[in-house]
Amino acid sequence: THTSVADLLTGKRQSGEQVTVKGWIRTRRDSKAGISFLAIHDGSCFHPIQAVVPNSLDNYQDEVTRLTTGCSVTVSGTLVESLGEGQAFEIQAEQVDVLGWVENPDSYPMAAKRHSIEYLREYSHLRARTNVIGAVTRIRNCLSQAMHRFFHEQGYYWISTPIITANDCEGAGEMFRVSTLDLANLPRTEQGDVDFSEDFFGKEAFLTVSGQLNVETYACALSKVYTFGPTFRAEKSNTSRHLAEFWMVEPEIAFADLDETAAFAEKMLKYVFNAVLSERRDDMEFFAQRIQKDAITRLENFINKDFAQVDYTDAINILIQSGRQFEYPVEWGIDMSSEHERYLAEEHFKSPVVVKNYPKDIKAFYMRMNDDGKTVAAMDVLAPGIGEIIGGSQREERLDRLDARLSEMNLNPEDYSWYRDLRRYGTVPHSGFGLGFDRLVTYVTGMQNIRDVIPFPRAPRLADY
Ligand code: 4AD
Ligand code: MG
Repeated sequence: THTSVADLLTGKRQSGEQVTVKGWIRTRRDSKAGISFLAIHDGSCFHPIQAVVPNSLDNYQDEVTRLTTGCSVTVSGTLVESLGEGQAFEIQAEQVDVLGWVENPDSYPMAAKRHSIEYLREYSHLRARTNVIGAVTRIRNCLSQAMHRFFHEQGYYWISTPIITANDCEGAGEMFRVSTLDLANLPRTEQGDVDFSEDFFGKEAFLTVSGQLNVETYACALSKVYTFGPTFRAEKSNTSRHLAEFWMVEPEIAFADLDETAAFAEKMLKYVFNAVLSERRDDMEFFAQRIQKDAITRLENFINKDFAQVDYTDAINILIQSGRQFEYPVEWGIDMSSEHERYLAEEHFKSPVVVKNYPKDIKAFYMRMNDDGKTVAAMDVLAPGIGEIIGGSQREERLDRLDARLSEMNLNPEDYSWYRDLRRYGTVPHSGFGLGFDRLVTYVTGMQNIRDVIPFPRAPRLADY
């Protein structure tokens, strides 16, 4: 049996104990006195453990001094308190077994030097070995565990919603088609259209853009539910905050209005940020040092401040009165772009801000109509440094209004008959939102590009993975 580096460094084992560790060499340094220092990492925590290897070992000349970055090893020896700075413990090695060599160390793509993040992106299968991607991965895990824990503590049930669906929840037409039809030989109807009745599902099918409509059905029975899974958008936006495959957290709350839902979003974000700060100090210190100077303090500020709240209409006025020359001109009715969102969060409010009550014409069919007949009960949460991370709304629970919206948007009520049933049988006010999970990880780590916070990014013009 062996012990993880995390357990060794955090004092789960005691000085003087015999221990075995398995991992990969980060660096090797040889002293003139005939001792080698190996930094060994196994991904369990940010820091590697140092093994001090004396030249009295049988394989010292032949193997130990040939170890290079990336070689895998088993090291056994005595755990001792380290005299070196920053490390509580190190291993006085008594045996070093090489499990795997690195062929041609000079051409090993992850050789021990600082690589650009763009370079690492070309090596999705190897980049997990680097400091930075290792740290991102542990933060991502911490955030998703904390998310589930939060919902569990709040009495929410986790609902698995389908990946393959017939509905375009957001109505933006950005769906990936799922089909078993032979593209080179598509069956046709008499009118010449593609005949989807011959397809696996007997009709058109797509990858979901959001689990919301499905999870609403469970909210209208179990009251407090959420879905957390992958979602897909074939949007062409080749930006640092869009992925074609991303993860979304979507709570749906029966009997809640928009303000209650916004307050819940704030509570959720603060909870997971607290978790990251207490559970992953090691990684957060690295991000503060190397990636985003205020990575830790800005999370602390986020936790300690109330979110600002503003109506869309007031937000537009703030942007107009700012006198700022935006790339996209500001007027009532626009769908704010990220420069507008960032101005509001970073320069005007200087805190996360909830923007509420958007014009109906830029929002999806399911959002609840406000009394003014022009706006809907929608909200976005904008964070300094990234812009929109959450989008949500109170849902239209009144069947007549919902039907009016469907027809206004040229949607076929028959396609939504199951959704309309929720309004026909014991309808209740309900609300929910979607948090872009990868945007959350981007924000927490301070990474510049969303492609570097998901193990295998899917974006236009993919590599081989
Ligand atoms: O604002 P959106 O489109 O809202 C919905 O899909 C609702 N059905 C959610 C709900 O009410 N249950 O997306 C929600 C969030 C955005 O705020 C953004 O953070 C993220 O999902 N998002 C993306 N993240 C990465 N890549 C993309 N292409 C994204 N599109 C949206
Ligand atoms: Mg949105």
